[in-house]
Amino acid sequence: MAALILVLNGPNLNLLGTREPEIYGTATLDDIHQMMNKSASALGWQIDFRQSNHEGELVDWIQWGRVHASAIIINAGAYTHTSVAILDALRAFDKAIIEVHLSNLFQRETFRHHSYITPVARGLICGFGARGYALALDALRDIVS
Ligand code: DQA
Repeated sequence: MAALILVLNGPNLNLLGTREPEIYGTATLDDIHQMMNKSASALGWQIDFRQSNHEGELVDWIQWGRVHASAIIINAGAYTHTSVAILDALRAFDKAIIEVHLSNLFQRETFRHHSYITPVARGLICGFGARGYALALDALRDIVS
């Protein structure tokens, strides 16, 4: 069966393309979704791409991923910096987690320098805009069989 990669996007990422484009770029979330679908199918993988503005829904999806997903790529948006609930859900996911951010968190406000997700992620990709999602998928080539 083809590996299923669960790609989770947190609050406000539905506004990509129009939200602070000088920070987040002009690609929309749909552009990113389509780009990932293409790259994943070239690898023989499937993508399940989701976005929510609600913390609990993201937790539910991570729990769903325990059963169905081979890996998680997550951009938790602002919940990255606040959510123990998402951290705990990710802790219960025993396969690879890649953390992605469009912007370089460490060039921004200090409250963005701390991530609850990084300690449970295999790696962190930030600062490369939409391309970060493609880089995350590429990183999984050596991890997901
Ligand atoms: C973000 C960075 C977060 O600090 C911010 O709250 C976001 C987007 C990024 O992709 O750069 O919503 O995760």
